[in-house]
Amino acid sequence: MNRCDNMAEGKGYGKCILFNEHFVVYNIPSIVSAIGDYTLATVEATDSGGVQLIDERPATPGYKEEKLEHQKDSLQRILDAMDIDQEEDLKITLEGDLYCASGIGASAASCTAIARALDQFFDMGLNDDQINDIAYEGEKGYHGEPSGVDNAASTYGGMIWFVRGEKNTFEPLSLKEPIEIVMGNTGRVANTKAAVAGVKERKEKYPERYEEIFQDARRLAHDARDALEANDIEKVGELMNTDHSLLQDIEVSDEDLDMLVETARSAGAVGAKMTGGGLGGYMVALTPGKELQEKVAKAIEDKGFRVLRTKIGV
Ligand code: PMV
Repeated sequence: MNRCDNMAEGKGYGKCILFNEHFVVYNIPSIVSAIGDYTLATVEATDSGGVQLIDERPATPGYKEEKLEHQKDSLQRILDAMDIDQEEDLKITLEGDLYCASGIGASAASCTAIARALDQFFDMGLNDDQINDIAYEGEKGYHGEPSGVDNAASTYGGMIWFVRGEKNTFEPLSLKEPIEIVMGNTGRVANTKAAVAGVKERKEKYPERYEEIFQDARRLAHDARDALEANDIEKVGELMNTDHSLLQDIEVSDEDLDMLVETARSAGAVGAKMTGGGLGGYMVALTPGKELQEKVAKAIEDKGFRVLRTKIGV
């Protein structure tokens, strides 16, 4: 295959699901935002050894070990999707400031970054939609049948209204200005595949109860979109709180996530909820302004948990 250069780079953004993780799997609209932190992939030509992957991303202890097999599977899927031979002598290095943990889109960010770097290295000239499709193939190595919401945020950036369907729908949503958030990390690596499977099982067992919750989630997505478009931040926060209750109802939150959500609310967050697959991983608090962001971040840190101070709508 033709190489453009001896070295190439690509970026993939982390993400924060603001509304309707899990529900999105069942074609209910969700709202996701890229965050400022990203993974950077570098591809370099080597003399031998086929494709090698060096992972130097900062991560929750145990995260990389736990995901190693998934990562190998994912890389193979990306190479296949891009028609790149496993025998090509290449070194792919992953770095960047995105702290890898469950719930922040670390796997999608790495898939997007790798696809972008390989595209540049081999001078393929792919557009964002093609990069997004390749990143989605890579995500399957981690999640089985992901909805595609994570790789959309990683690839396109900004804030997105995302609906899974035969063909996924993305619509960019614009915020008046970026808003500070705090993401609190439980420090526990979560298994999104198992969390998604748990919801499926309970949904089949309690169809009526789940149908009601799913209807509430659908209504909430539209209200949240209206509130974001009207820049009604108080309302957005209130709806995030409601979304957290719905996620509790489908049993994907846990004690640590609930405790961190409560801590953030008590410290003045406008709204707070778990984010991502749940059962470990991250929660998010809406904290407009540097001062409130710092207050909420400190309250979580004082409980001994790691936080990320970042922004949505960037
Ligand atoms: O655990 P994460 O951050 O990859 O988020 C997964 C989001 C889910 O809605 C739970 C699953 C999916 O495929 O959308």
